[in-house]
Amino acid sequence: MSALSEEQSLQIRPIKEHIGAEVTGVDLTQPVDKATRQALNDAVIDNVALVIRDQHFTPAQFAVAAELFGELMPDQIKSNLVEGLPMVSILSNFEKDSMGNQAKVPKNATWHTDHTNKERPPNYTFLYAVEIPEKGGGTSVVNMNAAYEALPAATRAKIDTMKTANVKISSSRLKSANRDVLAEQIALGEPPVIHPLVRTHPERGTKAIWFHTGKTENIEGMDPTETQEFLGNLLKESAKPEFAYTHEWKLGDLLIVDNRSALHKAGSDYDMSQHRKLYRTMVRGDRPY
Ligand code: SIN
Repeated sequence: MSALSEEQSLQIRPIKEHIGAEVTGVDLTQPVDKATRQALNDAVIDNVALVIRDQHFTPAQFAVAAELFGELMPDQIKSNLVEGLPMVSILSNFEKDSMGNQAKVPKNATWHTDHTNKERPPNYTFLYAVEIPEKGGGTSVVNMNAAYEALPAATRAKIDTMKTANVKISSSRLKSANRDVLAEQIALGEPPVIHPLVRTHPERGTKAIWFHTGKTENIEGMDPTETQEFLGNLLKESAKPEFAYTHEWKLGDLLIVDNRSALHKAGSDYDMSQHRKLYRTMVRGDRPY
């Protein structure tokens, strides 16, 4: 396909005022020219969540499509990778832990952003649905830049300088955590990674509230209990429905999230006896500031 004809067929339509755009007319299994690549990259940043319809990927093609947006980074949980593809994880509600137990509640179902316990968390998360329940199980994304801007000036000034200490599993989750992941955290003995609670988008200069509740051990100057209460209240005040979009999956959808201005979560509103299976990969980012 020539650069011109591909550009002509590419359509990017906004979904909601504050978040989301839908893309049609591109096949990411085919070579993509520079202009299309730039248009897609800008569309993710400007809309925070981008849905590219009608993609038919093998796991390897999914990884190649994500590489259009940067260098892939490995998932820190190694137990559910696609065989032979260390950069592609399988998110499945049928996954079992090393004791043979299947989770009773959906994973990743509270607002978070990925891998905050890493110094360079991912710029982008890519999700591609392989099996979906009949109803529910969407992925929600919230524009935390819009949420930040809507806060009273005094609240913004208060949170602007706060810092979070990030571990793989925070103390508030010790009892409910996946034992395998917890054992790994203890074995690694990694010190917490400190990040700003409000980060600046390196390509736009905008600010967004940015944290993972379950990985935040504490906000500097607060104990873990106060921290969880503070973050819970901050979410209630900021992550409002008008800033959020829930992507109800159709097979063939690729969802891309700009993690630098978003939080996301898996839907928990589906029948857990039905299989929900997504592929996930991530593109490496820079140190948040
Ligand atoms: C994630 O949190 O990265 C996955 C979200 C989902 O399963 O919808």
